[in-house]
Amino acid sequence: MKKVVEVLANREQLIDRSLEIVLSKISEAIAERGLCTIAAAGGSTPEPLYRALCAQDLPWDKIHVFWGDERYVPPEHPDSNQRMARLAWLDRVNIPASNIHPMPTGAGDPAADAAAHQTELQQFFKVSDGEFPAFDIILLGIGDDAHTASLFPGTAALEVRDALVTVGNKDGQPRITFTVPLINRARCVIFMVAGASKQPALAQIFAPAADEMTYPARLVQPDGELWWLLDAAAGEAVK
Ligand code: 6PG
Repeated sequence: MKKVVEVLANREQLIDRSLEIVLSKISEAIAERGLCTIAAAGGSTPEPLYRALCAQDLPWDKIHVFWGDERYVPPEHPDSNQRMARLAWLDRVNIPASNIHPMPTGAGDPAADAAAHQTELQQFFKVSDGEFPAFDIILLGIGDDAHTASLFPGTAALEVRDALVTVGNKDGQPRITFTVPLINRARCVIFMVAGASKQPALAQIFAPAADEMTYPARLVQPDGELWWLLDAAAGEAVK
């Protein structure tokens, strides 16, 4: 694993830097494999990155977009991660609808939706049960509690090692989330973290030792590159 931690002066530079890395990974993936797979993050931090991507002249037909986690709400709900990315990005570029792979949330049964999405991933990447496909880019954020994707402290989802997708639990509410082994197969994971409220979580995530069940972002140790992009306020924690 190649790990890089960068502290950028402000949110704007954090977005510029994330855009630069994402664009270079997209062209690398397309040059090497003919397509690029990206998992989008929810939360507020990546939204300006999504807006910036609209202005890029990219071979959208070769880019496939997934989500690392989803709130268990319909796609038109204000809390939907899919909705946020569609409004800021996907509805505004010429990407084929079949290249957009949202996490389903309509079965009335989160486990069934997680299983259906796992099947979609297995078919898309042509992997069998027990195999984990490598995403080209997984975007992630962290919460003030050090969760990432919908891997919340002390929840069963953190321990799932035999599935690609599982049911997360935020204060009793179900979410759909990538599992730790799926995230860790990625060629490139980019954490985007902004704001002083993230300092205590970052201090524990970067500590030489701390409990992974309490600070789930510590579990992210990908085979490929791991980028931590922090704005100056968050970056105080890693000085
Ligand atoms: C979600 C996210 C989540 C998010 C963090 C950071 O669906 O809530 O995927 O893990 O990335 O909570 O959120 P902010 O960017 O708003 O700080």
